[in-house]
Amino acid sequence: MSNKIFIGVAWPYANGSLHLGHIAGCYLPADIFARYNRLKGRDVLMVSGSDEHGTPITITADAEKITPQKVVDRYNKEHTENMEQLGISFDLFTRTTTKNHESVVQDLFSTLYKKKYIYKKSMNAHYCKNCSRFLPDRYIEGTCPHCHETGARGDQCDRCGKLLDSSELEDVRCKLCGGTPVLQNTEHLFFSLSSFESKLLKWVKNKKYWKSNVQKFTYNWLKGGLKDRAVTRDLSWGIKVPVPGFEKKRIYVWFDALTNYLTAVGYENNEEMFSKFWKDGEIVHLLGKDILRFHAIIWPCMLLAAGEKLPEKIVAHGWWTVAGEKMSKSKGNVVDTIQEIEKYGVDAFRYFLLS
Ligand code: MF3
Ligand code: ZN
Repeated sequence: MSNKIFIGVAWPYANGSLHLGHIAGCYLPADIFARYNRLKGRDVLMVSGSDEHGTPITITADAEKITPQKVVDRYNKEHTENMEQLGISFDLFTRTTTKNHESVVQDLFSTLYKKKYIYKKSMNAHYCKNCSRFLPDRYIEGTCPHCHETGARGDQCDRCGKLLDSSELEDVRCKLCGGTPVLQNTEHLFFSLSSFESKLLKWVKNKKYWKSNVQKFTYNWLKGGLKDRAVTRDLSWGIKVPVPGFEKKRIYVWFDALTNYLTAVGYENNEEMFSKFWKDGEIVHLLGKDILRFHAIIWPCMLLAAGEKLPEKIVAHGWWTVAGEKMSKSKGNVVDTIQEIEKYGVDAFRYFLLS
């Protein structure tokens, strides 16, 4: 086992406050794991940061009638402070709106485009005539074609967990105006996930040392086959697409956010750190189970396409539930961690969550 370890923890969206569910399910376990490794004398680099692009942010900005930049500045500051208050010992807690990151994402995107792993394809996308715009995933709601849940989003169904292509959704509604969008032809750039299906299947098959549910889920998803996915979106908030003709579109937020693990480990600006922690180190990711597919399938495919090493471990935790339901802002059942540590003290509260 390498004496160096890179711990990449999921990047929280900068569109709302962190609550007990985030801390208990992701940041506290990661912190304990990092502290344990430091005590064992290993060289640890634990990173994360604010995920600041994409529709989750523009939806909040629209609702509050302020700019997306104002939204992310507010929550990046709050999250950074909260991590400190809770004693989460990040070596680096950064954000996705830095110049360095923009250049890493565009370079990686261009490389994959040159290698033909990213290619142009015309597709039907939802266009809302009332709003005069194409609607990105999170601006539409509809019925999941797999489990028939009626509140599925354009990119994923939270009930059955399947990744969706928004054109597969049934009974689609525009979230902005409630109207019925129509499918209209437009060109997007697609990432060839299918090129990596067999390589990934072999990779996951050997991961018997992962938590067994994580390994089994990933293996079963892969056996169901991999479909190519669009990696551009009809949005104005996000990283610009470095391909002529796509000036009005932006890079898909997951392509951008996942790439930040590379930015944070010095992919373009710190060769020494990159070889130490990525090339020679053990790479571990910690996240909530709702985003396992992005980390265990899309991310390794991106790394294979770029010719970089894959993570050794992917650890996904379940949710903190309240009366059987996931704790979430939309359900209105969240517990504010900062209020709790003010009442009980940080160590007592961390111990309570851990136990
Ligand atoms: N912001 C995403 C979420 O909260 C997680 C992004 S993890 C990353 O679900 F690695 F992609 F950044
Ligand atoms: Zn509309």
